[in-house]
Amino acid sequence: MPPRAVPKAVTSRPDAAADRLLDWYDRHRRSLPWRALPGEAPDPYRVWLSEIMLQQTTVPVVGPYFQRFLDLWPDVHALAAAPREDVMREWAGLGYYARARNLHACAGAVVERHGGRFPETEEGLDELPGIGPYSAAAIAAIAFDRQATAVDGNIERVVARLFRIATPLPKAKVEIRRRAAELTPRQRCGDYTQAMMDLGATICTPRAPKCLVCPLASLCRARDAGDAETLPRRAPKMARPLRRGVAFWAVTRDGAVLLRRRPSRGLLGGMMEVPSTEWRATPWSEAEALAEAPAPGAWRALPGLVRHGFTHLELELVVYTARISRAALAGAEPEGVWCRVDRLGAAGLPSLMRKLVRHALAHA
Ligand code: ADE
Ligand code: SF4
Repeated sequence: MPPRAVPKAVTSRPDAAADRLLDWYDRHRRSLPWRALPGEAPDPYRVWLSEIMLQQTTVPVVGPYFQRFLDLWPDVHALAAAPREDVMREWAGLGYYARARNLHACAGAVVERHGGRFPETEEGLDELPGIGPYSAAAIAAIAFDRQATAVDGNIERVVARLFRIATPLPKAKVEIRRRAAELTPRQRCGDYTQAMMDLGATICTPRAPKCLVCPLASLCRARDAGDAETLPRRAPKMARPLRRGVAFWAVTRDGAVLLRRRPSRGLLGGMMEVPSTEWRATPWSEAEALAEAPAPGAWRALPGLVRHGFTHLELELVVYTARISRAALAGAEPEGVWCRVDRLGAAGLPSLMRKLVRHALAHA
C-alpha cells in the first residue's frame, strides 16, 4: 500500500500555524515603542494609542507621533485633560482628523465612565468613541491577552495567502475573518496577534513575499501553488471624484500668513487651514473665487495647482495670493489668525495644507 499523504495544508492544522508563528515571534519580534518587552505587562494606554495611530499609517510614520503624544500626555488622564485643539495640532499630518477628535473623546470616556482604566473585553472596548471592531479586538488581545481576532491589512494578506482565498476583496472579508478566527489560539493571543502583524509587515509583504524564510511556509497553500504575490485579489477601485477649490494665501508686509480653523464637521474638520472656498465638482471662475476671499485685495492666481488625494476624493486647489493688512481683516467672519511664515511648521497644519504652503512659498 502506498503511504498515506500527510495532510499538509493549514486547513487541517490550524494549531500548527499558531505554534510556529509564536516560536518565530519569540526569536524575531520587532522592538516597537508601544510594545511591552517579553515578560513585561503591556500598558493599555500605549496599546490603544498605537492602534488608533496605526490605522492611519505605517509603523515608521507613527513612531515620532507616538513618542510626542507620550511625552505630552503620559497617561489617559493627561490626554483627557488636554485641550482638544492641542490634540488636533499634535495629530496634524497623520490624516483622518475625525480620529483625533474621537481619540480625545475616548480618553474622556475612559476617565469618566471607567475611572481611567480601559475595559478589558472586546465588547467593552467597542463601545468607546473611535474604537471599532478591529481596534477592539486588537486592544483586547494585545493589552489584555483576550482571545480576540483582529484582522488588519497585514493579517488579511497573510490569511488570504495561507488559505489561498481567491475571492476578491472586499467580498473575501467574510471568509478571511472566519479563517483568521480558526487560526487564533487560546493562549498568548496578544503575542499571536502581533506576530501576525510582524509577519505581514516583514515576511509576507505585498510584493515579493519572503516565503523561503517564512515560519508558515510548509502550511501555506499560496506558496505551494506559487501565486502568493497575486493574493489577496481586489475588485477594481472606483475612480475617486475630483473636487476643486481656491485657497487664499494672504500675507502681511511683515511676513505673516492668514490661517483659520475649519468647521468641526466634514473633511479636515477642526483643523487649521489656509482659508479656502468650498470644495466642489465645478471649477471656480475668478469672479466666483474672489467673492469668497477673506478680504478685498489685489488677488492674483499662482501658477500650477495643489493636488491631494483623500480616501474618497481627489482635490485640486488653485492658490490666490495678495498682500493684506491686518486692519483689512478686522471683524471678518470666520475669524482668522496671523501666523509668521517661519512659524507655520508649528501651526498644526494637515498634510494638504503643508503641501499648499510649500507651493505658495515656491511660487509667490
Ligand atoms: N499595525 C497595527 N497594529 C500594530 C502593532 N500593534 N504592531 C505592529 N504593527 C501594527
Ligand atoms: Fe506569506 Fe509566503 Fe509565508 Fe505563505 S509562505 S504566509 S505567502 S510569506
